[in-house]
Amino acid sequence: MNVEALSTYGYIAASILFISGLKMLSSPRTARRGNLLSAVGMLFAVVVTLAHHGLAYQWILMGAILGAAIGAVASYIVPMTNMPQMVAVFNGFGGLASLLVGWATYHMDRDVSRFTATATWLTVLIGGVTFSGSLVAYLKLSERFISGRPVRFRNQQWVNGLLLVVTLALGAAYIWAPASAPAYTALLAVIALSLVLGVLSVIPIGGADMPVIISLLNSYSGMAAAAAGFVIRNNVLIVAGALVGASGIILTAIMCKAMNRSLSNVLFSGFGAAGAAQGSEVKGEAHPISPEDAYLILEAARSVVIVPGYGMAVAQAQHAACELGEKLTRNGCEVKYAIHPVAGRMPGHMNVLLAEANVPYEQLAEPQDVNPLMSTVDVAMVIGANDVVNPAAREDPKSPIYGMPIINVDHARTVFVLKRSLAAGFAGVDNPLFFYPNTRMLFGDAKATLQALVAEFKAAAAA
Ligand code: TAP
Repeated sequence: MNVEALSTYGYIAASILFISGLKMLSSPRTARRGNLLSAVGMLFAVVVTLAHHGLAYQWILMGAILGAAIGAVASYIVPMTNMPQMVAVFNGFGGLASLLVGWATYHMDRDVSRFTATATWLTVLIGGVTFSGSLVAYLKLSERFISGRPVRFRNQQWVNGLLLVVTLALGAAYIWAPASAPAYTALLAVIALSLVLGVLSVIPIGGADMPVIISLLNSYSGMAAAAAGFVIRNNVLIVAGALVGASGIILTAIMCKAMNRSLSNVLFSGFGAAGAAQGSEVKGEAHPISPEDAYLILEAARSVVIVPGYGMAVAQAQHAACELGEKLTRNGCEVKYAIHPVAGRMPGHMNVLLAEANVPYEQLAEPQDVNPLMSTVDVAMVIGANDVVNPAAREDPKSPIYGMPIINVDHARTVFVLKRSLAAGFAGVDNPLFFYPNTRMLFGDAKATLQALVAEFKAAAAA
C-alpha cells in the first residue's frame, strides 16, 4: 500500500474517532470519554499529516510545545469562573489560525486556481470575523472594557451591509485574477475588513442574546477551518472543520429555541437597545429568610427542584448544592436539578459544574420536564440564577426578555432564591420573582448559604 492510501485510511480513522467522540458528547454519562476520543483522533490526524508530508518537525514541535505551554499555564491561572471568557478567546484563536493558514499559503504561492482563491477568500473572511468577534465576546463576557449590553449607533446595519458588499466585491476581484498584483492588495483589504466586520457584528448583540452569538462564533471557527482545509488540500481538516461548523450551527439553533427567537431577530434587532423597551418597573418588598428557618421548610419538603445559574459558578457552590441534594434525598425528598439551556455564561456551563460535583445524571432535568409539574413541587431552590427564572419573560410584554421560555419556579409552593442582593442578572432586567408572596430570599454567597443549610441537616441528624 502506498503512502497516499495509508494516509487516507489514517484520516478516515481520525474522522471516525471525531464523529464517535461527538456522538458521546450528547450524554453527560459519556461526555468525558467522548472528549478524550476526539482528542486521540486529533493526535492521530496530526501524526498522519506529519508522516505523510514529511514536514519540518522542529517547527511543528516548537509550535506544539508553545501551544501546550500556553494552554497549561492558562488552565492553571484562569479561575473556573472565567472559563467562558477563556473558551471565547480560544475559539477566536482558532479563527486566527485559519486566517493565517489562508494568507500564508497564498503569500508563498500566488499562482492558484479560482477554486483555491475562493477557499482562501472564505478562510480569511470567516477566520477574521471569528477572531475579532470572539475577542469582543470575551470583553463582553468579562464586562471589563465593554458593557455586556448591546452597543449600537445610527445606521449600524447599513454600515455593516456596506462593509459586507465591499468585502464581496474585493473577493470577486481577487478570485477573478488571483495571480495579479492587485489581487494581493485586495486580499489584504479583505483581511482588514473581516476584522472590522467581526467587531461591528458582535457589538450590537448583548444581554440575554449572547449565548446565540457565542454558539455562532463557534460554528464560524469550524467553517473557517474547513475552508482552510480546501486551501491546503487536507481532508481531515475539512472533515474536522465541517463537524465543528455543523455542531455549532445545531447549538445556535438550540440556543435560539431556548430564547424563542429567530437567528435574524437576534442578529439584527439588538437586545435591550437604547430606546427599546426596558420592561415595567418592578417594585415590592422582598421577604428574607434565615438558613435555620429555610431548613425547617426543606426538612418537611417531599419534592425540591434546584435551579442553578451563573451565581452558582461564581460562588463555586456546585459541591455544596450536591451535598444538600444528597441530604434531601436521604430525607425521603425527590430532588431534581433543572438546567436552562442558557444558564451561566457558556453552553453546557451548569452541566459541567454539576457533573464535576458528581450530581446523579438521573436527577438532571430540562425546563420542559419540570415546568408542567412545578405547581406540585414543594420548594424550588434558585441558586444564583436570575434571568432564566424571571417571570417577566412570561408576563411582561414590555420586557426585553419577553417570550424567552423560563423555568417557572414561581409556580412552586415555595421559592428560595439564593443570591447576594436584589441586583439584576446579565440581561440587566429587574426580576419581580423576588417580591412574590411565595418567594423567600436567602441573601448571601450561595456556597455559604448552602453550607449553612447542610450544617442544619447534619446538626439535626446528630441530635
Ligand atoms: P444571571 O441572570 O446572569 O444571574 C446570575 C445571578 O447570580 C446574579 O443576579 C447575581 O446576583 C447572582 N450571583 C453572583 N454571584 C453570586 C454568589 N457568589 N452567590 C450567589 N449569587 C450570586 O444568570 P442566569 O440566570 O444563569 O442567566 C444567564 C444569563 O447570561 C442569561 O441572560 C443568558 O442569556 C446570559 N448569557 C448566557 C450565556 C450562555 S452560552 N449560557 C453566555 C453569555 C450570556 P447578586 O449579584 O445579587 O448575587
